[in-house]
Amino acid sequence: MLYDNHNRPLRYLRLAVTERCNLRCHYCMPEEGLPWSKKDQILTYEEMLRLVEILANLGISKVRITGGEPFVRKDLLPFMSELKQIKGIDKLNITTNGTAPLSSIETMEQIGVNSVNLSLDSIDAERFAKVTRRDEFEKVWNYYKLLEQSTLNTKINAVVMENHNLGDILPMSALTVNDDVSIRFIEEMPFNGGSKGYTPIEWNFRRIINHIKTQYPNLNKLDDAKSSTSYNYQIPGAKGSIGVIPAYSRTICGTCDRIRLTPKGELMTCLYQNKGFSFRDFMRDGATDIDIKEKFLKLFGQRAKDGFESEKRKEETGSFQSMATIGG
Ligand code: GTP
Ligand code: 5AD
Ligand code: SF4
Repeated sequence: MLYDNHNRPLRYLRLAVTERCNLRCHYCMPEEGLPWSKKDQILTYEEMLRLVEILANLGISKVRITGGEPFVRKDLLPFMSELKQIKGIDKLNITTNGTAPLSSIETMEQIGVNSVNLSLDSIDAERFAKVTRRDEFEKVWNYYKLLEQSTLNTKINAVVMENHNLGDILPMSALTVNDDVSIRFIEEMPFNGGSKGYTPIEWNFRRIINHIKTQYPNLNKLDDAKSSTSYNYQIPGAKGSIGVIPAYSRTICGTCDRIRLTPKGELMTCLYQNKGFSFRDFMRDGATDIDIKEKFLKLFGQRAKDGFESEKRKEETGSFQSMATIGG
């Protein structure tokens, strides 16, 4: 097992395959999009496979594909199939906005993908269009319905935004009564690519849960997996569950088992750090597998204790970027 300098096991790689997205969610990027990188600035699939193989050798066993919207990148499914074959990678998951063709669900089942997290911030078509600045609700809803019937384990991620979707918290919670889905309400983080600057949140995970309890006072607390990003609950008798993710409050850092590779190949050992070491440049300058392995180990030994420490380190160097360039 691989450990960091705070004795936390590292198991989980979040691999962002693109910065681009076909939606324009307020909490992630401005209307006009981001200053997209050129193709040769983004890691190739071959480079990603090389890094994942080295990380798998070091003990990383779970990979989540993120972005941007992963399906915007060409040939994603064949790439995922190759990833799944890497020795040591037991779990391959993806976070997507659900606008890909429905056939991708069956292909993911065949590849052996374990679970799909669907970003869906509202189940009201009008509100959905306002949040995403695109008119794709029906497509995403159909994707959800098919996912729910598939063998893939399904979670919904909903970022709670004071001016947009508070009215969805109860109806989305109610979905879990009949659907075998985990709905996770996420605190909004300031990684919006300059869309609205750094605004402290009004709705933290405690407030969200208290709000759900006004409708479901008997909500049961479930046991959470060790390095879970969410605190989980269940309406008595429900098929699914409800979670809250303290992404902004950062009460989960003590058990953080995650590292990230950005689309440009920077290693982020914490979501709140400003800039990561460029494995893209390192590889393109001729680093050997041993050099790469040693560099990973060195950086794992310098992780910030939590997201607050990362933020402090960052204040000296720059401003907040977008989740799409950090990679979820
Ligand atoms: P599971 O593997 O299914 O538990 O998913 P996950 O929660 O790890 O991943 P997902 O992509 O669904 O992320 C849900 C939300 O949690 C996103 O807003 C993430 O950015 C946030 N999140 C994930 N990991 C971290 C983390 O290490 N720190 C913080 N602060 N937020 C995180
Ligand atoms: N705050 C919280 N969550 C965010 N996500 C994207 N941007 C933000 C943000 N600013 C979520 C997406 C996706 C997950 C990877 O991160 O909704 O589900
Ligand atoms: Fe891990 Fe940083 Fe997130 Fe905390 S804020 S859980 S240390 S990535």
